Amino acid sequence: MSVQSEMKKVTTRTLSEMKQRGEKIAMLTSYDYSMASLVDEAGIDVVLVGDSASNVMAGHETTLPITLDQMIYHGASVVRAVKRALVVVDLPFGTYQGNSREALVSAIRIMKETAADAVKLEGGSEVIESVNRILSAGIPVMGHLGLMPQSIHKFGTYSVRAKQESEAQKLLSDSQLLEDAGCFAVVLEKIPSILGKKVAGQLKIPVIGIGAGPEVDGQVLVIHDMLGITQQFSPRFLRRYHNLAVEIKDAVGSYINDVKSKDFPNDKEQY
Ligand code: KIV
Repeated sequence: MSVQSEMKKVTTRTLSEMKQRGEKIAMLTSYDYSMASLVDEAGIDVVLVGDSASNVMAGHETTLPITLDQMIYHGASVVRAVKRALVVVDLPFGTYQGNSREALVSAIRIMKETAADAVKLEGGSEVIESVNRILSAGIPVMGHLGLMPQSIHKFGTYSVRAKQESEAQKLLSDSQLLEDAGCFAVVLEKIPSILGKKVAGQLKIPVIGIGAGPEVDGQVLVIHDMLGITQQFSPRFLRRYHNLAVEIKDAVGSYINDVKSKDFPNDKEQY
């Protein structure tokens, strides 16, 4: 039986069972109805409405400018499309750090206004109060450690994280802290593979990597990157499954030619 034909909704429990039986979790981002329908129909396990929407949808340099209202717009569009996958929506920068009450209000808005299944946020001990408060309302939380794009101005670079022993130790203790608090999964971004393996071995909850090596419990990529719609972004961890930028430009070029040459519309394409 294919994954799609099962049509059993993926839950946080499904992901935990997948880890237990050693089945890898496949996660991709989506930000709109049409793309999310295709990704879900293809059988993805988790759709992440990432704050990378700030980059790939809105054209910002960083993920910092995107607002809660904008994330809710993207989240609700994706939820309307998805029938099977678990949908996780990112809490954007400035809506959960430093004030756990505000974090709860932001997470509740996401859950009520998008009908998503869970939220994701970046950080470990620094945001643990917020994590606890959101969890206390029964909202599933996915953590995110390693390269945390919302903290780009603190680090000043998108280079590999946790190469130093002290940073690796902090990442290990933060991931344990998130598990102990009750998070259902953790994303690890751009860290040495050996550390990804160690965290996945230490935690009972699923560890989903993006540039964290093969020995974690699942992988996530930004859909625009893996389809080759974005062209400038080429980190080592990215595998491009298509070169859609070229195909889209070819198709648009053909349309322009057909309009200019009066080939479109033809006799069958009119009333
Ligand atoms: O916002 C995003 O797309 C993400 C992934 C890179 C994990 O957080």
